[in-house]
Amino acid sequence: MVRKRNPKSAIRNSKSLVAVIMGSKSDWETMRHTDEVLTSFGVAHECRVISAHRTPELASALASNAQARGTEVIIAAAGGAAHLAGVIAAHTTLPVLGVPMKSDALNGMDSLLSTVQMPAGVPVGTLAIGKPGATNAALFAVAILANSRPELREKLRQFREDQEKQVREAVLE
Ligand code: RP5
Repeated sequence: MVRKRNPKSAIRNSKSLVAVIMGSKSDWETMRHTDEVLTSFGVAHECRVISAHRTPELASALASNAQARGTEVIIAAAGGAAHLAGVIAAHTTLPVLGVPMKSDALNGMDSLLSTVQMPAGVPVGTLAIGKPGATNAALFAVAILANSRPELREKLRQFREDQEKQVREAVLE
């Protein structure tokens, strides 16, 4: 498992299948759920802070080099005027999943709209605001990777089965 948070250097070589990036360290409290789900499925990934407006060269370098480094899916989380996922998508043809962060000012509606409303031609697959989106971004990435990995498909099937069991057997006290 490759997990790099706030790396001091720029883009390094690694074999992460999923790159999880977020615009600020303050997003980590939400994005740790993406990290946890990918870890539970045994998916090699990396987590790092990269901002579209504070570190624009780093953002462009990560996206431009991702495919050559073996990355297959990029998950980008940002809040407010959340352009990170769109900027990343502009530099790569890899699937980019956007997670809108819940902002203080507008409860994440700003993040949601600025992530989801990509003009036609450069898509960002946008998930829900906050923790549900962070969790589902990881599950979506697993589903994409599972297309060519039967063992991951089986883990996903098992996950759904366990989830169904929990709901069916839920006891209200
Ligand atoms: C965005 O601005 C980040 O993704 C974060 O959600 C938001 C606030 O960032 P901080 O002011 O907490 O660094 O770029």
